[in-house]
Amino acid sequence: MDPTLNNILDQKGLKWVFVGGKGGVGKTTTSCSLGVLLAGCRRSVLIISTDPAHNLSDAFGQKFTSKPTLVNGFDNLFCLEIEPSQAVQENLQEDLSADANGGAAGLQAMFKELGTSIPGIDEALSFAEIMKSVDSLDYEIVVFDTAPTGHTLRLLSFPRALEAAFAKFNNFKDKIMGLASQFAPMMQGAQEQMLAKLEETRSTVERVNTQFQNPELTTFVCVCIPEFLSLYETERLIQELTKYGIDTHNVVVNSVLFAEPDACRKLIARKRMQDKYIDQIQDLYGEDFHVVISPMMDEEVRGPALLKAFAKNLINPYKPPSRVEGVPSSTAVVPKICEKFKLSPDEVYAFLEKEGLPVPRSGGSKA
Ligand SMILES: Nc1ncnc2c1ncn2[C@@H]1O[C@H](COP(=O)(O)OP(=O)(O)OP(=O)(O)O)[C@@H](O)[C@H]1O
Ligand SMILES: [Mg+2]
Repeated sequence: MDPTLNNILDQKGLKWVFVGGKGGVGKTTTSCSLGVLLAGCRRSVLIISTDPAHNLSDAFGQKFTSKPTLVNGFDNLFCLEIEPSQAVQENLQEDLSADANGGAAGLQAMFKELGTSIPGIDEALSFAEIMKSVDSLDYEIVVFDTAPTGHTLRLLSFPRALEAAFAKFNNFKDKIMGLASQFAPMMQGAQEQMLAKLEETRSTVERVNTQFQNPELTTFVCVCIPEFLSLYETERLIQELTKYGIDTHNVVVNSVLFAEPDACRKLIARKRMQDKYIDQIQDLYGEDFHVVISPMMDEEVRGPALLKAFAKNLINPYKPPSRVEGVPSSTAVVPKICEKFKLSPDEVYAFLEKEGLPVPRSGGSKA
């Protein structure tokens, strides 16, 4: 199959795109980039983060809130960072304030009854609330930047949980209504209002659930990195999605290394980026914490032998070898060039870098 995401851009009827995978593999980066691509060929695009640790703001370098906000430099790309627990709180608050005649306690009790009878119902209800408002906003396509797999699978299980909750609720609804009319007639209006609201939520859930199971409207993009844990989790994710009847036919394999001609330059560029943050870590924590620098290893750390090798660096500060056996160290060459051509080390490093032959500076991490 074509190794690109063009199929998503080409599928003009698509309305919901989920982007998911293990923590830290590039879900946010992929969903934001996909949002940017879609903005080029769709009327309006909304990216929603359902991850409580939001980072759409970080990815775009712009602050987003729980209201759709236009992304700088676009006229049809919006971002929204939702706080699931906040949504249900606000919703509950609305119900309570709408009811001025003492029914609040009754409503809260009903919510509580619902809450205790079905685990996760709070979250499920708030997701339904979010879907209801997103649905009414009328974006042509919505990209979900999801939280790591476990959380996302729970989110996708909400429609079923809600259906079960509504079924259960119907069983004791009549009892509650009967009691309410008997003991607190003035509460009846509030209870009816509440039931109407629940019914509205139920129908949204049903509609959204049907859409999520329609491959013409919905697809799930899996993001992974080429490592055991990520591959394993992707497989589990795909199996669960199949169970929920959600289409998935794209896998983005991110952060792949290539032995390209400038691989060395790339490595040094990344080292420089890391050095910047290591300096910040030292500034922040160096005085009060034991800051242990653990090097990236050649392989995944799996099995006792590799764990021992990893452990060694936790008790002895890692010192990179200054030269590979049988190969002269490029760093060691610099002083020789300095001496022979009467140049300062800085001049030599700068020259080599300009020529595309960057050499890591010996000693400190500062470049
Ligand atoms: N191909 C790449 N090359 C370099 N950096 C990358 C690449 N992909 C992602 N990153 C960086 O890696 C970090 C993690 O990426 P991202 O936030 O997209 O992952 P995530 O899966 O959304 O993480 P989380 O599970 O925490 O939400 C970010 O700083 C991002 O800029
Ligand atoms: Mg993310």
